[in-house]
Amino acid sequence: MADINVEEVLKKLTLTEKVDLLAGIDFWHTKGLPHHGVPSLRLTDGPNGVRGTKFFNGVPAACFPCGTGLGATFNQELLEEAGRTMGREAIAKSAHVILGPTINMQRSPLGGRGFESIGEDPFLAGLGAAALIRGIQSTGVQATIKHFLCNDQEDKRMGVHSIVTERALREIYALPFQLTVRDSQPGAFMTAYNGINGVFCSENPKYIDDMLRKEWGWDGLIMSDWFGTYSTTAAAAAGLDLEMPGPTRFRGELLKFNVSNGKPFTHVLDERARQVLRFVKRCAASGVKENGPEETADTPETAALLRKIGDESIVLLKNESIVLLKNEGSVLPLKKDKKTLVIGPNAKTATYHGGGSASLRAYYAVTPHDGISSKLETPPGYTVGAYTHRFLPILGHQCSASGKAGMSWKVYNEPRSAEKRELIDEVHIEKTEMHLVDYYNDRLSELWYADLEGTIVPDEDMTYELGVVVCGTAKAYVNDQLVVDNATKQIAGDAFFGCATREELGRIDLKKGETYQIRIEFVSAPSFTLKSESIILGHGSLRVGGCKVIDDQAEIKKSVQLAREHDQVVICAGLNADWETEGTDRASMKLPGVLDQLIDEVASANPNTVVVMQTGTPEEMPWLQKTPAVIQAWYGGNETGNCIADVLFGDYNPSGKLSLSFPKRLQDVPSFLNFRTEAGRTLYGEDVYVGYRYYEYADVEVNFPFGYGLSYTTFAFLDLSLVVKEGSISATVSIKNTGSVKGAEVAQMYVQPRQAAKINRPVKELKGFAKVELEAGESKTVTIEELEKYAASYFDEERNQWCVEAGEYDVIVSNSSEVKEGQSVKASFTVAESYWWSGI
Ligand code: BGC
Repeated sequence: MADINVEEVLKKLTLTEKVDLLAGIDFWHTKGLPHHGVPSLRLTDGPNGVRGTKFFNGVPAACFPCGTGLGATFNQELLEEAGRTMGREAIAKSAHVILGPTINMQRSPLGGRGFESIGEDPFLAGLGAAALIRGIQSTGVQATIKHFLCNDQEDKRMGVHSIVTERALREIYALPFQLTVRDSQPGAFMTAYNGINGVFCSENPKYIDDMLRKEWGWDGLIMSDWFGTYSTTAAAAAGLDLEMPGPTRFRGELLKFNVSNGKPFTHVLDERARQVLRFVKRCAASGVKENGPEETADTPETAALLRKIGDESIVLLKNESIVLLKNEGSVLPLKKDKKTLVIGPNAKTATYHGGGSASLRAYYAVTPHDGISSKLETPPGYTVGAYTHRFLPILGHQCSASGKAGMSWKVYNEPRSAEKRELIDEVHIEKTEMHLVDYYNDRLSELWYADLEGTIVPDEDMTYELGVVVCGTAKAYVNDQLVVDNATKQIAGDAFFGCATREELGRIDLKKGETYQIRIEFVSAPSFTLKSESIILGHGSLRVGGCKVIDDQAEIKKSVQLAREHDQVVICAGLNADWETEGTDRASMKLPGVLDQLIDEVASANPNTVVVMQTGTPEEMPWLQKTPAVIQAWYGGNETGNCIADVLFGDYNPSGKLSLSFPKRLQDVPSFLNFRTEAGRTLYGEDVYVGYRYYEYADVEVNFPFGYGLSYTTFAFLDLSLVVKEGSISATVSIKNTGSVKGAEVAQMYVQPRQAAKINRPVKELKGFAKVELEAGESKTVTIEELEKYAASYFDEERNQWCVEAGEYDVIVSNSSEVKEGQSVKASFTVAESYWWSGI
């Protein structure tokens, strides 16, 4: 693709062509103008891997750990490498633009997309995202930092206004974005769905024009979130360049008409078109082919990198010595030659990503059970113990069709009752969770029909439950007997971004060893009976799940009995993409069902028990006192099961640190009173006191603090030397591995004002971090640098500027926000006179 001379092209464009550039043409592409040498761009999700252009049955991809997992590595070099691989993955899918990273804030553990963002601290999120972006953009692919701004909950996300002070907005919510502009110049910004203090983000001149473009001097492309453009003139005038997805709803003829009347003025329209052309020019320089094929790039190097990132993301939360009990030392690492029991709902499922636009079809995904089995000399014992699902586990993985795991999906324009049906499309599907918004087939009419079919052979007699969620209508049959009717009387639910029914359930008795034919008859979106309650996008959606009905208490009893018969026990607990997903916030911070009881009773039955938590955000842990060992394993991408096993057996010495605080209970969370939409708004009442800023200030005890994480070795922090020169602070510390195995430690630099400031300030705040690998006995020095103006300032609303107040500041370099002697060092610097600044 020849280079684009932006100003020359702009001069030649007609009004129609300019307006055409300002909106997508479909879910994932922008408009090309071939006469002018302007290619169409391909955009793709997302924050933890590159899905390509299909939600439904996409081309497989590399799945990285979720955002909080990436944050927990506290390793900027590694994140840059992750970014490079994401860039290469995008190139394989002929995509010019990645819609990520996500850096919204975890105001509450309940946030549906908390797992997707890097962490609760603006420096961790901002520096982490900047590293990812540098990596992505080094390949020529452009990154889209999202969602700008204050998009921290899912409840009524398209209509809610975040009511937030300018100080909190600047110090907590905008700062991570500001840092990415400073350190990585992201190609694009995506505006958020919500509004801020009464003005929606996609038409908010104060933040997208005055702050982002003028004050920060950023010159990239601003696009709306999908269906997040709400106006014609206001959005264009405020600075929104691209409406996504297409076809347009607010631009096209409407915009042309408005421009012809000076709303907005022609020069504003030209500026929007100029930004799009400049962005296209940058994207075209990547060499990515226009409308190119979508391919895989599944290499051993990618697998090795995913394993490394997954290993580094895991946080060892607790590892008690059980010397008194068995004279054997700590529970972890587990022994490979011991009789091992693996239980829990997450054991035989690879819970590798969260839900919504972060989800993707991975090249492969390793379950914890498989990862653990591969380390053991003899296979582990297993029972499920308890369920954790919100929707029944995906049926496709349990079925087979044409000799392969999965089900066949056959699409017709005629109903089953028709005499003759012409087969329009046939696909083999394993993941029977089908979001048909970006499913295109020219031969399909609006109303169409599909049969999803497969067989299941139970390995025991059981009562089996089937579940169907649909946008459209669907009926599920087993051996031609109707088991679920989700067509006749539909009830709204919150799956598929709130555009589908709740899960309808039905039960059937199955006999061991018999083959059962399962068939789901689906009818596309126009058949949906709840159309009046939401806007239907594309062809609708279908999710089919199923599992054996269990007796909770009998399962717990069985688990306890088995635990007694084994030397060591791994409980694979946590949540999954049903719970932590775009579109819905959770209602509770407790583990679902009887999982807490299972953990409690099993840990009491066998002291050699370790709990592996797979969640993107914290859960209450009422069993913590009784449980000697706990690891936090997030949603760990393709390699999730292997990484869990690496840490459990000591093949990798854990080095992850918590990217967010783990409070004891929901009532302790600073946003407890203000975490849902009420009367169209959500009050950010905790102000700047998000996460550890609150727990430290209010002295509220947490289960585990921000930045915390154990290792199988020990480290000592020594000799901090602080140099303040030319507006920059440089802290150098010596870290020694004082234990007997190799490991890695994170140096976290916190700044703490010594005097009371003009306004209340958090006790201390993270300003930088670095990770270092050390052989047993080895020492290395680590240097962390930051500009003094970033290290010491707060946002002064009186002047609308950042203020660095005169006084003394302690610099604490520690291995956690919980500062302990031996694992931290302290020095201080002085600011002689107060000063104010703005910009970046
Ligand atoms: C999400 C974005 C995502 C887009 C495209 C929206 O629902 O908020 O983060 O990039 O969809 O999938």
